[in-house]
Amino acid sequence: EPASPAISAGGRRRRVLMFPLPFQGHLTPMLQLAGALHARGGGRLDITVFHAAFNAPPDPARHPPGYRFVAVGEGVPSGDLSFPSGSDADFAGALLRINDRLREPFRDRLRQLLAEEEEGEADGGAPACLVVDSNLRGMQLVAEELGVPTLVLRTGGAACLVAYMAFPALCDKGLLPPASSQDKAHMEMPLDELTPLRLRDMVFSPITTHANMARCLEHLLDAARSSSGVILNTFQELENSDLQKITDGLGVPIYTIGPLHKISSGIESSLLAQDQTCLKWLDKQEADSVLYVSLGSLASMDEKEMLETAWGLANSQRPFLWVIRHNMVRSSQQESLPEGFEEATRGRGMVVPWAPQLEVLGHRAIGGFWTHNGWNSTLESICEGVPMICRPQFADQMINMRYVQEVWKIGFELEGELERGKIEMAITKLLCMEEGRHMRQRAKDLRDKAVKCTEENGSSKSAIELLLKRIMSF
Ligand code: UDX
Repeated sequence: EPASPAISAGGRRRRVLMFPLPFQGHLTPMLQLAGALHARGGGRLDITVFHAAFNAPPDPARHPPGYRFVAVGEGVPSGDLSFPSGSDADFAGALLRINDRLREPFRDRLRQLLAEEEEGEADGGAPACLVVDSNLRGMQLVAEELGVPTLVLRTGGAACLVAYMAFPALCDKGLLPPASSQDKAHMEMPLDELTPLRLRDMVFSPITTHANMARCLEHLLDAARSSSGVILNTFQELENSDLQKITDGLGVPIYTIGPLHKISSGIESSLLAQDQTCLKWLDKQEADSVLYVSLGSLASMDEKEMLETAWGLANSQRPFLWVIRHNMVRSSQQESLPEGFEEATRGRGMVVPWAPQLEVLGHRAIGGFWTHNGWNSTLESICEGVPMICRPQFADQMINMRYVQEVWKIGFELEGELERGKIEMAITKLLCMEEGRHMRQRAKDLRDKAVKCTEENGSSKSAIELLLKRIMSF
């Protein structure tokens, strides 16, 4: 990657400070952003990543020169920063706790870094700004207090941010929290200003309290509005109208530079070891024939759902690659597959604890993705032209699913209770039927648009140049 024109040869060497949220789906895009900026910096842009000791980025030693990693809050018990995985996760409560526990330790670390800089003891560039995850308002306040400008990285899609921006108004109107969450018809109510979302898509977790959710979103919007700019991991041609709403509604510069994994390469960010042998297995399968099944790093299922999934996959008679993460099955000591499953699927299925997802989705053998619709998985699937079976659980996942199904028409929801017959039918529809073929074609058209964005003069490529210019101007 040649140095960006924004980095003038005679200019000062600078350092970008970053603080990701300590979860896989947030760590990855932040490190990809680091990689993208560093690569274009022509040796004049250094990176310091502040991070929680819990879920620390893997193997910092493998990053090129110019990177520094600074652990924050080593004494904080990891139980304070994590949350139990699953659709019953109180993720808003966890976000509030993370901000609370890391704020003081971060102030110490940042003060220290600025003091070293002042005394000329720091090597590398002078700090330009802090790029902070949109959920870390607490860290942004520390930076503001110490006079460091901030940019906010929003790791989700534009549609989700628009929905978050509409949240306070929906509360004012009395629509949220829902008057009767047990009333199915009421929960299906379409939200006119947020088509294709329904009231139920705005209830982000069955267990997080409305008050916690409201506080988290208030912090998130405060972070965005008081920053010097918001960076989004999506692309113009995918979410044009929602991006316009964000630009109009936030009043700060918006840098739409996704898909980040296509702009940045070779950044090691996986917290779990990826089983590479599945790629060899995929080599032996026919084009567009294999269903890839993964719920990302946090979503989970109970034992009954696991059983139904196993038999749905077995009965479908289609090849599959299934990720069963170590803590994916709730209230189970071991993720044991049902008796007879292995014989029934021998030679046709592979189960791994964690996959090299980007390579898997990019493999010609993959014909569909059964996903929980975390934003990274959704975007990665789009970028490889892979249609989806959607099984969202919490946070932004329902919103992403609605766009996949209703707007882009590149997948469909597997709704209600998981049942083997239903699963089998969904797999057949996606992999073997006309409807699925159309979805695959539309996904491939979107992939081509994503490629264009990152090419010379593409919208994301131009936006990253503007972002670099901004960073060098601080
Ligand atoms: C979380 C939230 O759940 C999600 O809703 C939000 O949008 C981002 O943060 P997560 O649930 O882990 O993320 O899902 P996702 O955003 O899809 O990120 C998972 C990442 O792990 C992806 O980048 C994917 O490539 C990677 N992955 C997943 C692997 O590398 N191997 C696997 O086997 C599975």
